[in-house]
Amino acid sequence: MLILTLALVQGAFAFPWVANVQGVDSSILKRSALLERDTPDCPFNPNHQPAAPVTSKYPYNNAKDGKPGNGKGGYLVPAPGDTAHEFRKPNSKTDIRGPCPGLNAAANHGFLARDGITTYNELVDAQQNLYNVGYDLANLLAIAGVGLDGDLVGTGKLSIGCDATSRTASTGNLLADELGLNGHNHFEADASLTRNDYFLADGDNYRWNATLFTQMLEYCQGNCNLEALSKYREARYYQSVADNGNFFFGPGSLLLYGAASFLYELMPTAGGTADEATMMSFFGADKVNGEYVWNGGERIPPNWRARVEPYDNNKVGTQIIEMYLMNPVLFGGNVGRNNFNGLNFSTYIQDGKLNTDLGDNALCLIYQALTGGFPSQLGQVINLPVALVNAMAAEIAPMAENLGCPLNHNSGSSVSGG
Ligand code: HEM
Ligand SMILES: *[C@@H]1O[C@H](CO)[C@@H](O)[C@H](O)[C@H]1NC(C)=O
Ligand SMILES: *[C@@H]1O[C@H](CO)[C@@H](O)[C@H](O)[C@H]1NC(C)=O
Repeated sequence: MLILTLALVQGAFAFPWVANVQGVDSSILKRSALLERDTPDCPFNPNHQPAAPVTSKYPYNNAKDGKPGNGKGGYLVPAPGDTAHEFRKPNSKTDIRGPCPGLNAAANHGFLARDGITTYNELVDAQQNLYNVGYDLANLLAIAGVGLDGDLVGTGKLSIGCDATSRTASTGNLLADELGLNGHNHFEADASLTRNDYFLADGDNYRWNATLFTQMLEYCQGNCNLEALSKYREARYYQSVADNGNFFFGPGSLLLYGAASFLYELMPTAGGTADEATMMSFFGADKVNGEYVWNGGERIPPNWRARVEPYDNNKVGTQIIEMYLMNPVLFGGNVGRNNFNGLNFSTYIQDGKLNTDLGDNALCLIYQALTGGFPSQLGQVINLPVALVNAMAAEIAPMAENLGCPLNHNSGSSVSGG
């Protein structure tokens, strides 16, 4: 009888339980053990150029150096005349792209380094200047991204796709294992909108998939709103339960509901809807003879304006919980196809079911998942150094406190939640 006592962020604990189960592919474990560095053929730019900074002529939200900007959207992006932020197709030899259409678009427009080796500050600035993401949410996502997949404690660098550890880690740090955003079950997870499950596609969990994109737009019927995406996410979940013997859907998967809300909160032009043309542009799709095809790069639509009010932690927390509760599914994992086992997590999840009196606390659950209720078990699989976990916890704790979340004992805050 399999006992699932999952207690940490899915990245850290996705596979300890699977590892000991017969017939389950635990090859993911080997990678960490060997500490291989750099994906073979990961694009390489010998002449790395950082993101194009905002200027007094083209200020956008005037967000610079990781500091808060104005938080006032409504402006055109790119600003007319601002060639530094024009669209340029990525070069597959030099430019890394990955599972996140929002960051791929940002890199294609120079809001992040065009070669896809970015930094914490670039991420925080770009999200504010391009999308008018609130400063708190911009930091939360940067902490999760750089913390789980890059170098949060040292260089602050992150590959937005394949493993480029030799370029993201500090020189001489031979132990660093920084997978980039493609890293499976760190931030990237199963049942994505337009990306394959890792184990279903030989590790291609990051490219745009035409079949999935077409399916998504069928659910949307011209408007990728809350209701449509809730139904589509549910459908993707049951596809994974049926097809993917290694399917894992942990507490961190709630982040995927947040990403789905970006389709109607961040991608439409200010005041607009998440219509087909907008989705095609941000997901890098053209239509040829009635079929969607990859066009080589995620792009900001013409005459596009950033949303007027910032999209912040409170707002995304509300969308996550609404989207989830419209079509709730169990948390847990498959041990073989169509053999789903629910998990327990903290006070939030019992036998795979989310506490329905959770209210607005979706973000509290995510905070707890990211910071780990039981730090002694962290590092078992992905070898997150304790210093890193503490750094993430210390940065996230004040945000969690603002939302009134009970804090972990290792949160780095003086307020103890036990
Ligand atoms: C530091 C900031 C960010 C990081 C580290 C990040 C990272 C990621 C990662 C790792 C995924 C893959 C999750 C999965 O498995 O489905 C993802 C998905 C996604 N992200 Fe981001 N993201 C960030 C900001 C943004 C922004 C600002 C947008 C807004 C346009 C965005 C839009 C999306 C969407 C729509 C998806 C779902 C794609 C799909 O499932 O096909 N992200 N992001
Ligand atoms: C989860 O908790 C319930 C109630 O405490 C328990 O009956 C169940 O066996 C637990 N499930 C797992 C997978 O640990
Ligand atoms: C795209 O997704 C479909 C449905 O999951 C799958 O059958 C197909 O193999 C995927 N295509 C690629 C190129 O990965």
